[in-house]
Amino acid sequence: MVHHHIALIPGDGIGAEVLPPAQQVLRHVGRRYGVDFTWTSYDWSCERYLREGAMMPEDGLDQLRDKDAILLGAVGYPGVPDHVSLWGLLIPIRRGFRQYVNLRPIRVFDGVPSPLSGARPGEVDLVVVRENVEGEYGEIGGRLNRGTPEELAVQEAVFTRAGVTRVLEYAFGLARQRGGGVTSATKSNGIVHTMPFWDELVAECGARHPDVGWDQEHIDALAAKFVLEPGRFDVVVASNLFGDILSDLAAAVAGSIGIAPAANLNPERAHPSMFEPVHGSAPDIAGRGTANPLGAIWSAAMMLDHLGHPRAAAEVVGAIAAVLAGTDVRTPDLGGSATTVEFTEALLRHL
Ligand code: NAD
Ligand code: IPM
Ligand code: MN
Repeated sequence: MVHHHIALIPGDGIGAEVLPPAQQVLRHVGRRYGVDFTWTSYDWSCERYLREGAMMPEDGLDQLRDKDAILLGAVGYPGVPDHVSLWGLLIPIRRGFRQYVNLRPIRVFDGVPSPLSGARPGEVDLVVVRENVEGEYGEIGGRLNRGTPEELAVQEAVFTRAGVTRVLEYAFGLARQRGGGVTSATKSNGIVHTMPFWDELVAECGARHPDVGWDQEHIDALAAKFVLEPGRFDVVVASNLFGDILSDLAAAVAGSIGIAPAANLNPERAHPSMFEPVHGSAPDIAGRGTANPLGAIWSAAMMLDHLGHPRAAAEVVGAIAAVLAGTDVRTPDLGGSATTVEFTEALLRHL
């Protein structure tokens, strides 16, 4: 029996509705693959913020440090400004644990119609590799002259040679493993300092990996191509903000943001990695018990893979594909009327 200690952070809104299904799937598949989990749950959330004035305790990262991985639901809820809640919990974990790769796979599954007539099952199977700790997300900047006609806000983007190179190396390595190529998202025609630098580092990385094909697209044109010919892409590497936007776009192409998973990886394994669905806390549907749990479940499968159980992980992804292809049980985001619990039960029957 292999043992893993997992930190669970349900967070806000539907985060708390989609984590129990992920846990259930892990328990179920774990039993058959000789994997056993201990869970430590943390109530870090906007509710905690309103009660205690902070999203997590001051030693929050220290409490997570010895865990094998972190499974997170979603963070952010009306009543607490988003930049306060996210910079009080999610972003400090990503940055504090050097989870510099945010891996976001997208597939069009059989049985989930894409809103695009051109995106058929099997044709779209891409991964967004998002830089996760620097770039456009940063603390440097400020606001001046509040409430006056001279009011202004400045937000600096920081790209470092080391920070960009490590995520590019990851993307090229992944493309080699997948037998595919890399597309770099850029905007060097309009953003004149950081993006030309990004492009140069991509070219350097490409030269180090002559066996991996690569190209680059301006982010605006790339967004259009995600819609027009999503099947063309394999590994798409992007800065923090561009990767964020592309991953929701790709999730929509695949039929629902409720399906899309994410792995926030510290590839060196010096710190725990964190697994969470791409979607947020969905306040518009929270409390109804109808959230799609597949994003969280697929994220849990990515966690299994990261923890050294690729066969168990593949079985979970296989069960997701099977329940979508073989039944019409679906949550409302996929056009069905099943609850989160009913959909999870249908999936468990396919494991
Ligand atoms: P969102 O992803 O929460 O919701 C966007 C739309 O998608 C909504 O209509 C929602 O109902 C739907 N949706 C999302 N997940 C779904 C699921 N599993 N099943 C069915 N439908 C689903 O994005 P938002 O509205 O921009 O953000 C809401 C809050 O969540 C904000 O506070 C935001 O900052 C936060 N957020 C957190 C994360 C995270 O924790 N990683 C990610 C994105 C947004
Ligand atoms: C995501 C989210 C977060 C991000 C927000 C909530 C800060 O959109 O995980 O994709 O931009 O990273
Ligand atoms: Mn996002």
